[in-house]
Amino acid sequence: MLVVKNLKCEYLKNPIGIDVVNPRLSWEIISDKRNVKQQQFQIQVATDREFNNIVWNVHTFSEKSIHIPYKGAPLQSSERYFYRVKVWISAEEESEWSEVNFWEMGLLNSSEWTAKWISVKEQKINTEFNTRAPFCCFKTFSISKTIKKATIYVTSLGLYELQLNGKRVGEDYLTPGWTDYNYRIQYQTYDVSDLIKTDENKLNTTVGEGWYSGYLGWTKRKDTYGSKNALILQMYIYYEDGSYEVICSDESWKEEKCNILMSDIYNGEIYDARKEEEVNETNNVVALSYPKTHLVAQENEPIRIQEELKPLSIFKTPKDELILDMGQNMAGFVRFKVNGDKGQKVTLTHGEVLDKEGNFYRDNIRTAAQEITYICNGNREEVYQPHFTFQGFRYVKLEGFKGDIKPSDFTGVVLHSDMKSIGTFETSDKTINQLQHNILWGQKGNFVDVPTDCPQRDERLGWTGDAQIFARTACFNMNVAPFFSKWLKDLSYNQMPDGAVPFVVPDILKGTFADGMGLTTAGWGDAAVICPWTIYQCYGDDNILKQQYDSMKKWINYIRCQGDNEYLWDTGLQLADWLALDNEEGGFFGATDGYLVATAYYAYSTGIFAKVAKILGNLDDYKLYSHLYDSIKEAYINSFFDSQGNLTSETQTAQVISLYFDLVPEEYKEKVVKKLVQLIEKKDVHLDTGFLGTPYLCHVLSDNGYKDVAYKLLFNKDYPSWLYQVERGATTMWEHWDGIKVDGSFWDIGMNSFNHYAYGSVGAWMYQSIGGIDMLEPGYKKSKIAPKLSECLSFTEASLETMYGKIAVKWQVVDKNINLKVEIPHNTTAVITLPNVKDAEKVKKDIIEGYSEKKLQFNLAGNGFSQNYIDTDFGFSLSKDGSLSFEVGSGKYTFIYAIN
Ligand code: BGC
Repeated sequence: MLVVKNLKCEYLKNPIGIDVVNPRLSWEIISDKRNVKQQQFQIQVATDREFNNIVWNVHTFSEKSIHIPYKGAPLQSSERYFYRVKVWISAEEESEWSEVNFWEMGLLNSSEWTAKWISVKEQKINTEFNTRAPFCCFKTFSISKTIKKATIYVTSLGLYELQLNGKRVGEDYLTPGWTDYNYRIQYQTYDVSDLIKTDENKLNTTVGEGWYSGYLGWTKRKDTYGSKNALILQMYIYYEDGSYEVICSDESWKEEKCNILMSDIYNGEIYDARKEEEVNETNNVVALSYPKTHLVAQENEPIRIQEELKPLSIFKTPKDELILDMGQNMAGFVRFKVNGDKGQKVTLTHGEVLDKEGNFYRDNIRTAAQEITYICNGNREEVYQPHFTFQGFRYVKLEGFKGDIKPSDFTGVVLHSDMKSIGTFETSDKTINQLQHNILWGQKGNFVDVPTDCPQRDERLGWTGDAQIFARTACFNMNVAPFFSKWLKDLSYNQMPDGAVPFVVPDILKGTFADGMGLTTAGWGDAAVICPWTIYQCYGDDNILKQQYDSMKKWINYIRCQGDNEYLWDTGLQLADWLALDNEEGGFFGATDGYLVATAYYAYSTGIFAKVAKILGNLDDYKLYSHLYDSIKEAYINSFFDSQGNLTSETQTAQVISLYFDLVPEEYKEKVVKKLVQLIEKKDVHLDTGFLGTPYLCHVLSDNGYKDVAYKLLFNKDYPSWLYQVERGATTMWEHWDGIKVDGSFWDIGMNSFNHYAYGSVGAWMYQSIGGIDMLEPGYKKSKIAPKLSECLSFTEASLETMYGKIAVKWQVVDKNINLKVEIPHNTTAVITLPNVKDAEKVKKDIIEGYSEKKLQFNLAGNGFSQNYIDTDFGFSLSKDGSLSFEVGSGKYTFIYAIN
């Protein structure tokens, strides 16, 4: 059996409305054999499903099966391209053609937009919140011919929802998402062939403020991108007779009444259902002369409903508040039923936690009202869900509801970017599983079109530091390549002329942060380098390196220009090891020297950039930046180590990042590792790291012979630790180790989110070390399978859908015997490291007998296969700690052996 499956174009199955010039194709190979390697492939692309009109036909000897760029005839706007793939794994073994997949181009040239931006003459103002009310407009048209296909291209200044003949167009929410609208506005493409009909049709739309002109940031910034919301829409109707027609947004559209009185990302929504009965007076809309040059096709997966949660309960607090408990801190909104009297007002106020006394608490949400108000029409059951807002919450205070209300009247609708789930991780320990759950939900709540710090308070911004810290973990849980690729483009656009990377992307702060004290900081700005590098590694995508190359280089050159010494970064505001616990109680800044952190990151990013230059064949840059890297490393060692090899900052984080970034001279390594362990022991084996030290803490310990200390930190249940929050009932990651203190009181209300993913960055270590799934070559073309055992765990099962297919590891220990199952996708190889091997000779023998070429041929011949197999050449290496490593080809393996 040899099948080509899971075809993807630009990471997506059958995408429509893309504007990539050379879309890249990827596929997986399915076979029941081992050691399968692609030797040749053939791709055909045609404009018809039958492949009569072929525009690209390539047949080549190549192992490449991911990200193959289309190189056929130039692609045309709105055209659908069908493609199929076949592969050879030897001269004789050829697959059938894969099933036919397709992609469809969007509008490739902005001059094709003949539609006009439209708005209403005057948007109504909601004085309570000082916001603009959404507006509604529509167009009717009639069709007399038989329709073959209809496609809509649409976007807005603000957020829009669109209906055709009373039905919602598409499944996307909060469209067009958030980019820096000054540079790029994504348009969405919808195939509406099923919604359009011969006869009368009505297109209607509602447009709200959203990120375009609504509140953003804690300084109550408004109208960041403009003060007038607008829509642009272009619809192509193709008829069976070969003709087509275009319907555009223009002055022929009419404004109609809008029942939403207010809708704002932070503040929530007010809907007056009584208005449904009011006479619908219509007005002409106006056309705006807003440019169309920065309309780009949707690049990442749009925000969609991901799941719907049933509430746990409704209860009364000591203060007599009526509270709905979703049982999960989430981002999205509540859909609810209400059967009220005409004019009865019901309000839902959203919060994350209850206070010590069990009362509703929302002080940490700061000025974001997170309030949904619905005014009933009366005498009927009404179902409502908000439109242009989302909330971060677990608890909802219900007001104005009368009579018997039940949990089943409410549904928690979870929204985030529609990224594919690709990772699973489960162990024998429930609390660790809950931690993984919390990390995952931290990702769900904060990957709402941009990687945000939190989804609830008046922030929800694309903090660069948080994103780079969490990126590696994010890549395990979901395919985040298109998500980051889109965000990183905005990062480049928002980079300042001198190369400084803003604190947040899209950059709404523009110099307002910290009273103008600084415009960038190490560890945050380094997202410019670390994020693309992480995406490249995890998905084998070198396009992202090309796309971000100039941005990376500008960032490094920016640092180089800071201060007097080009090899140190020792100036300006440094957030450094943000929120670490090693400084004075209640402070934001950790004790690690900010300039040590800044220089360490400078070296790390420069080292990565030099590698990138080499990968892309920019050899001059490679030489220059390798040299720069060496000089920074030397300066780091000279400045931040004393003559005895002690780091000048005696903190866990200083040791951790120096080791992880490879900035410790060989002769001091042992000393620094020991120092780290001592510092941990000094805290009774507890961490005190902040944002920048935490992601690498366990890695550094387990890579340097202290995996047991790493495990101890992970399994700690008392403060401060990851499981402390789990024990306290957390369902997402907290911003602070002490968000809720041991005595039940809260960290300062000024900054205390309960859904912040930064400390969830330990998730990558969990996959890599407990699950044992890591990479040796980009995209997991070669993977590393090396689970590390702990006495606290008897079982772990982890998996990852890579671009090549699924890697799976499952281990179980019973009475000092391990059963380890490993699955390696075809067209890749792996180095497996078996942990704690008691009798290496026996294990080697079993492997050779079980998986040598002879055995395979024998087994498979019995199944009717007679091919020649590539020899499985097991070159074993045994390390001091009793782990046995060897390389294998693709396939499924089981190892059963005694452990020491
Ligand atoms: C955000 C962070 C961010 C930090 C930097 C906070 O308000 O929520 O996560 O990285 O500021 O100052």
